[in-house]
Amino acid sequence: MGISNLLAQYRERVDTYLEACISEQSIDPELQKSMQYSLFNGGKRVRPTLVYMVNAMLGGVPQQADSAAAAIECIHSYSLVHDDLPAMDDDDLRRGKPTCHIAFDEATAILAGDALQCLAFELITSDAQLDNATKVKLIHKLSISAGHQGMVVGQSFDLRNVGKMLSFEQLEAMHQHKTGALLQCSAIMGAITCGKTNAEQLSAISNYAKAIGLAFQVQDDILDIEGDSEVIGKPQGSDLEQNKPTYPALLGLEGAKLLLQQLHTEAVQALKPFGSNARDLIALADFIVQRDH
Ligand code: IPE
Ligand code: IPE
Ligand code: MG
Ligand code: MG
Ligand code: MG
Repeated sequence: MGISNLLAQYRERVDTYLEACISEQSIDPELQKSMQYSLFNGGKRVRPTLVYMVNAMLGGVPQQADSAAAAIECIHSYSLVHDDLPAMDDDDLRRGKPTCHIAFDEATAILAGDALQCLAFELITSDAQLDNATKVKLIHKLSISAGHQGMVVGQSFDLRNVGKMLSFEQLEAMHQHKTGALLQCSAIMGAITCGKTNAEQLSAISNYAKAIGLAFQVQDDILDIEGDSEVIGKPQGSDLEQNKPTYPALLGLEGAKLLLQQLHTEAVQALKPFGSNARDLIALADFIVQRDH
């Protein structure tokens, strides 16, 4: 199956799972609407796909991976809602639609993000398919990757360095945290859900995910320059306008593209121990560096 079909298949699976989880009535329908608006607005579902693909490569079944896949998308969607707020990137377009704080209001967007973050942990703890030890491992990995040692510190570093020229090492650390951490977490959670991974396999998967995690943000930075707002679904040129520290700003566009190719090669190399079983993950790495949105 080609990567577009694989992405579509996993997107449908995780969306069905998520829809069932927040369809219940709320005493505040506006909050519930804002959560649904932020989750079901056309995201690519790359992180859930990574959870499912790693689980499948290691011989797992998708039922084991549903709550982890849904949870990582809740964390990712919350991070985007907060990333777009006036106090952060102040963007008004996300996934081709008005950002959550534009469609609702700022307070509702903050709360929708907060609630989506909590929902991630609720989904894992209430999953009847998983034993308690697996749930604790997933929660441990997810909380570290999302918080002050992961995505949040990356976002903090991003905002503190607007207008500054970072060193290569500082920029790499920023990207690894703000974007790499959740992608790496997705791959490791995929391994945790199937429960039969050895240390060598885990290290190979982690190296793959580290490379594609960084590559994902490098391509995101490139798309900010070369992309089309209609296609990327967010305002093109936002990084430039805000003087954000990005790879193209440091290395130039060609330098950033070269780095992207190096990271792709690293990712594919890391999967060598899995032979042809890594076919789908290689296709996902190809997609990440070639994507136009
Ligand atoms: C955008 O992520 C934000 C970054 C971390 C670069 P995606 O490109 O995965 O966004 P969606 O989920 O498909 O909208
Ligand atoms: C944000 O990076 C990554 C997170 C939300 C953690 P960007 O600010 O570059 O993401 P976009 O370009 O707005 O999607
Ligand atoms: Mg940002
Ligand atoms: Mg942004
Ligand atoms: Mg960006």
